[in-house]
Amino acid sequence: MKIQSPRGTEDLLPEVTYKWHLIEDKLKNLATLYNYKEIRTPMFEHTELFQRGVGETTDIVQKEMYTFEDRSGRSLTLRPEGTASVVRSYVQHKMHGNTNQPSKLYYMGPMFRYERPQQGRTRQFHQFGIEAIGSEDPAIDAEVIAFAMGCFTELGLKSLKLVINSIGDEESRKSHREALINHFTPVKNELCDDCNERLEKNPLRLLDCKVDQGHEAMKTAPSILDYLNDESKQYFEDVKAHLDEMGIDYVVDDKLVRGLDYYTHTAFEIMSEAEGFGSITTLMGGGRYNGLVQDLGGPEISGIGFAFGVERLLMALEAEGIDLKADDSMDCFIISIGEKTKTFTSKLLYQLRKEGIRADQDYLNRKLKGQFKQAERLNAKLAMIVGENELENGVINIKNLNTGDEKAVQLDETIPYIQSQLEEEIE
Ligand code: HAM
Repeated sequence: MKIQSPRGTEDLLPEVTYKWHLIEDKLKNLATLYNYKEIRTPMFEHTELFQRGVGETTDIVQKEMYTFEDRSGRSLTLRPEGTASVVRSYVQHKMHGNTNQPSKLYYMGPMFRYERPQQGRTRQFHQFGIEAIGSEDPAIDAEVIAFAMGCFTELGLKSLKLVINSIGDEESRKSHREALINHFTPVKNELCDDCNERLEKNPLRLLDCKVDQGHEAMKTAPSILDYLNDESKQYFEDVKAHLDEMGIDYVVDDKLVRGLDYYTHTAFEIMSEAEGFGSITTLMGGGRYNGLVQDLGGPEISGIGFAFGVERLLMALEAEGIDLKADDSMDCFIISIGEKTKTFTSKLLYQLRKEGIRADQDYLNRKLKGQFKQAERLNAKLAMIVGENELENGVINIKNLNTGDEKAVQLDETIPYIQSQLEEEIE
């Protein structure tokens, strides 16, 4: 039996990897514009990091982690998200002591969640995310949201909806928690087992239960916005004022609570409204986390960030009919005739590449016509035709495949000639 890739994973073949390169380049440029620097953390961490960071009562920790024991009996987990790892690293390397504050970091790479695979949901997916740690200025909340929107608008996406909410500070959350307990306790027998557990441990999590979504009590649940204390209210107003001033459209949704426990104050998501995008419409999620650095053993420092799945971005591009063009042209294809020429053309090819000329040759013993066909298939701009006679005479025919012009060039003149032809092409 042939071995297949594991369920919920995907091979990225050369037909699509060029799109990933284009997107990654765009995102790196955007990060430079916003002054965020790259951080790379390990693919696996101590399980405790996510239990403490993401939260014991979240779906991620309860149901979705790839957790295993290594040979020394340590419990390790493939990272399901990036924020906990980045904050762990921030604390471990005492980044708060660096002169450049806030610490503005971005990351890109695979994340792992044991979920039911469907369109837009896989078990290995790739996030691009940023974290700005060390500032509690509403202006940075607005910067992070603007950056998030930029990731999609810069690639030409238009059917986007930005949804924001505030989850408030600890005090606001406490009074909201009481209200949620009072609201759901009378109907607790009608709710799923998970919700019953959440009711005791973390009632906010009830609001993103996938099983009881349709229950009447969910619709009438107390709104967090009614429980924000003055400070939290003001913070939210300030963030909105920044977004208004920047001309970034948003809608406030008091039901947006996010699926991870570390959030405080600002929470936001970007949805795709493109027809044909699929049933999971969330492209990106993020928010502020004022207690996380401390929870992971660091000082009382707050942060904010977002992450999105690159796969979902690709889905949105497709849904909006945006085609990322590949640069799959080649500078020069060497056509060789006769057995004795091969060692020479291999040397020539090596020299061309050393000069930065994108070149290739035939490796399948194709006939002359077949080699020209291959040059065409590869979109080569030039063909060098090398036969035994040409070798003896010390000249090589170089054909411009766009214009059809052909010229016999002295052997030691070939590279400058090719370079001049390619320059003409650019002009
Ligand atoms: P999250 O909402 O769990 O947040 O995930 C963020 C994004 O990752 C989602 O909006 C989606 O695009 C993508 N994603 C999540 N799970 C899957 C999956 N199974 N398959 C494909 N894509 C998926 C976080 O991860 C937070 N760390 C975001 C954040 C950063 N908050 C503050 N800083």
